[in-house]
Amino acid sequence: MSSEATLRERAEARGIEFGAALSAAPLREDSNYWNTARTEFTSVTTSSELKMGPLRPSPKTYDFSDADAIVDFGNEYDMAVRGHTLVWHTQKPDWFQEWDYSGDQVRDFLRDHVRTVAGRYGTRIDAWDVVNEAVHEDGSMRESVWYEGMGPEYVEKAFEWAAEVTDSDLFYNDYDIPTEPEKADAVYDLLADFRDRGVPVDGIGLQLHGIGSQADPADVADTVRRFRDLGLDVHVTELDVAYEVGSVPDDPLAAQAEYYRALVEACVDAGVDSITTWGVNDGNSWVRDFYKAEERFTIDPLLFDRKCDPKPAYHAVKAALFEA
Ligand code: XIL
Repeated sequence: MSSEATLRERAEARGIEFGAALSAAPLREDSNYWNTARTEFTSVTTSSELKMGPLRPSPKTYDFSDADAIVDFGNEYDMAVRGHTLVWHTQKPDWFQEWDYSGDQVRDFLRDHVRTVAGRYGTRIDAWDVVNEAVHEDGSMRESVWYEGMGPEYVEKAFEWAAEVTDSDLFYNDYDIPTEPEKADAVYDLLADFRDRGVPVDGIGLQLHGIGSQADPADVADTVRRFRDLGLDVHVTELDVAYEVGSVPDDPLAAQAEYYRALVEACVDAGVDSITTWGVNDGNSWVRDFYKAEERFTIDPLLFDRKCDPKPAYHAVKAALFEA
């Protein structure tokens, strides 16, 4: 395959999914973004469009239009589609006031939500991040409206309800697992217990938002092997590589490329078969908005720059997939 091959072609030849999180607005409005997503990636994830808040303008209504724009795009162009996310502690609807609900009501509400959303898409969505970020860095369960209402059981219930309505692969997704040992152990115990008891979990998604500091690729590979030994698929679901103002390397684009190369090689070698960057290009990266107030971080985490031109990191990932 020539060096002119796209990232998508390289990834498909290598049998690896290499995807991007998409947002509905630039997908509709920016042809550069649309073309880059279409030609360079093998899979898509919804950034926020399937979260409960954006999806549910009022208690009895759903607005699937933005989510559908991304899912339809993926289906149309033979890309794998990842649904993100059915259950999370944040980005809930504004009208959702937790103090109005009893435990039973929380349970009924969450069950209906999971069944409605996962059931609507069926196999149009290949993999779901069923529960996102349920565990704190110290290994304790995060307090959330779901946890307060149902106790820790809400996590397994979400998987069971999803499995009732879809054959999609069901993932638990979280951040800092390779870098926070207490958290890693707690998530490991949670998922090992699920495997023992037949709770329908297929995989774990590792968010790797290297914003300011990046996980050591060797630690990521160890994490991958550890969870694969449980019989789980391991996907890298949310990859960013950005540097903190004040500690930007001398040649940040070269350093970023080298990190992407090392990480992709280590992950593929350890058995990861799906890697997703958290966005298509720097101009649409969440890092831009999310961290703007702090003005602490450079805003160049992705493979394509603000004009969707490929960066050194893009070529490094292609080379890594070629060699892997
Ligand atoms: C981010 C979105 O990209 C932003 O647009 C939104 O304002 C906040 O959420 N971990 C996750 C993702 O699991 O859902 C988050 O996405 C980024 C951190």
